[in-house]
Amino acid sequence: MKIIGKHSWPVLFVSDQLNRQTDEGAWLKEIVDTLIADHGCTAMFCSAYGDAHDIIYSHEDLGTVVIDWENQELGRVHGKNEDLAGPNAAARLVEYVRRRNAGVPILVLSDRSSIESIPNGVLERVNGVIWKLTDTPQFNAGRIERAVEDYSRTVLPAFFRNLVDYVAEYNFAWHTPGHMGGQGFLKSPSGTAFHKFFGENVLRADLSISVPELGSLLDHSGVTGEAERFSAEVFGADSTYYVLNGTSTGNQVVWRSQVSPGDRCLLDRNCHKSLSHAMIITSAVPEYMVPVRNALGIIGPVDFGTVDPAGSWAMSALTNSTYDGICYDARHAAEALSGAAVLHFDEAWYAYAKFHPVYANHFGMSLESRDRLIFCTQSTHKLLTAFSQASMIHVRFPADIHASEALRDDFHDTFNESYMMHGSTSPQYSMVASLDVATKMMHDNGTTAHADIMEEAIELRRKIAKIREQETAEGDWFFGMWQPDEIADTPTRELIGDQSRWVLRPEAGWHGFPASGLTGPYTMLDPIKLTFLCPGVDVHGAWSDTGVPAAVVTRYLGDKGIVCEKTDYYSWLLLNSLGTTKGKQGTLVAELFRFRELYESNAPLDRVFPALARAHPAAYRGTGLRDHCQAMHEHLRASGLLESMVRSSRIIPDRALIPAEAYRAIVKKRVEFVDLDCIDPVNDPRTAAVMVVPYPPGIPILMGGELLNERSLPILEYLRARHRFEEAFPGYEGDMHGIDRSPPDADGRCRWEIMLVKKD
Ligand SMILES: Cc1ncc(COP(=O)(O)O)c(C=O)c1O
Repeated sequence: MKIIGKHSWPVLFVSDQLNRQTDEGAWLKEIVDTLIADHGCTAMFCSAYGDAHDIIYSHEDLGTVVIDWENQELGRVHGKNEDLAGPNAAARLVEYVRRRNAGVPILVLSDRSSIESIPNGVLERVNGVIWKLTDTPQFNAGRIERAVEDYSRTVLPAFFRNLVDYVAEYNFAWHTPGHMGGQGFLKSPSGTAFHKFFGENVLRADLSISVPELGSLLDHSGVTGEAERFSAEVFGADSTYYVLNGTSTGNQVVWRSQVSPGDRCLLDRNCHKSLSHAMIITSAVPEYMVPVRNALGIIGPVDFGTVDPAGSWAMSALTNSTYDGICYDARHAAEALSGAAVLHFDEAWYAYAKFHPVYANHFGMSLESRDRLIFCTQSTHKLLTAFSQASMIHVRFPADIHASEALRDDFHDTFNESYMMHGSTSPQYSMVASLDVATKMMHDNGTTAHADIMEEAIELRRKIAKIREQETAEGDWFFGMWQPDEIADTPTRELIGDQSRWVLRPEAGWHGFPASGLTGPYTMLDPIKLTFLCPGVDVHGAWSDTGVPAAVVTRYLGDKGIVCEKTDYYSWLLLNSLGTTKGKQGTLVAELFRFRELYESNAPLDRVFPALARAHPAAYRGTGLRDHCQAMHEHLRASGLLESMVRSSRIIPDRALIPAEAYRAIVKKRVEFVDLDCIDPVNDPRTAAVMVVPYPPGIPILMGGELLNERSLPILEYLRARHRFEEAFPGYEGDMHGIDRSPPDADGRCRWEIMLVKKD
């Protein structure tokens, strides 16, 4: 079993004296030897300040940094073209370590005679000075060991520390789960393989709810409650609840806690399916806010101009940010939704917003006013570092609840009834620990870590834009980025810090949203969500004769191990997160060039997509990549598929039943599957039993209970166009929630069927 101890936190020595045959070299070596042999610590070494920058950038596990103030070896800061010459090199290193990690101990190693040269600003930031050749090496090794020991105790947040300590006690388990610390798996070969794959720690940490040391998730007590309170503090909430079944469940917990049958509610039409489920379990009566779209189908912000200023709703939900990274100024959103008694920001993709100034005022918990209850639900697992399904619900109280402990208790007692309805009595503690640790990470260096991600993302944005500019100037083509025009020519540093550069201004052309629907500069583009554009059609709907549909590009990238988050018709989305590395981005650019080369040479699909060509020889054998792209492009253009998608997205169909009633029809088996091609909306309107959500772009075009009638004709047209597309291009089937594809008939045709409420 792996135990976390002092040895897990190496001491970094930055000194060019380490291997020298000098008094100082020997003295330093003895310190290191004692530290390792007598104190059980580990160590890393580098002689130049420049190399130290690299190590500090890539090692968050350092237990202490010992910096020689009189180092002669300076070096360069990698990737920054920054020379370290000059007397300030050591001070800059201290400053760099502190910027990246506020807590790691820094000890300066210095000659007594040069005390004058250590500025007060540096002394303030370090944890001590070790005078060279003064005090015994054993004494100094002891001081360093103590620094490591003290620091390492602060690294683990409360819940995780208790879990680690509990596991390290080697208790005999007499409780669930049945594998009892992993032992059960060792009773068979497949179980043993499982044990080897996941490792002992994962299994030893999988414990029963009956371990009192870890508190209770359903009661929010003990160290679990402590972890939730810590998260509330760090994420800027009054109260935080951990959810172990994703934001899908978090959303339902929130709505079930506030909404009663028959309540009118206001929902972003660009909402996750879990909100539609929330409508079902609450029997709410939803009204929808429609987001704007550009000609590529990219979903923009909701058009607040269509929200009735005199309206009144029990609750509203806004998706913040959208998949493509559109984030709302929360103050503007709150004002536009003043008729909603409770605000819910679905921030599944946006848990990091609190930790970088570029997002100031653009996340739910940033709202200062306390005029009503505010919820934010966040999938911590999506873009922070928790295990999959680990999410949080953050709550901000209105002034009266905030001011009164009794009212806060009342809130908790009632809210927790809904929480418990969705919570298991067998929580996975590793998930709780991952939420605790994700919080601690954000607390310790969230801003720095996010600035790193943003820097990488912006560099990539600029690089792609520059390549495109150059290639176009030379008469060639390349992929583009969906972003404000000036990004390519603005230094990254300026873009990281300046929110105004990312604001969507109604009059700007780059986003392609109609100025009529985007009534003000109240949204921004998240720099880390990267939407790439393909040649073929622009954001305003101007088609080119040739085109490269995104599905072909992302199929190629996927085959090369670059898995994209979302593929639209002429754009695709990549996400940056704490897991993004420079290598990943370099590989992406190289593969895009390689794709273009294969396209230009019209390389045979048998070579580019061998599995696709093998699976569908009639459609693709003998075709080249360029011809393939062109055929798809021409199909998309001629079929009007994008146009019908945009048209259908503007329609909120008439409602025959509320979602809960439509669902009841399913339970009562009063539903049937009907071939889309057999529906006659004009003469025989029908009611959908389930929502229909095409991916891309993942936004519902029909909700359960809505009518397929003359008004919703564009929706049927879009679905049929999509069906024809998939028939023409087998192997490019997209996900289509709510549509059942029948097995192919003798002619190889699948029927697309939708679940409808039976006619009486
Ligand atoms: C806007 C939105 N809300 C909620 C969810 C559900 O989150 P989870 O996957 O954590 O259940 C998603 C998932 O994609 C989402 O996009």
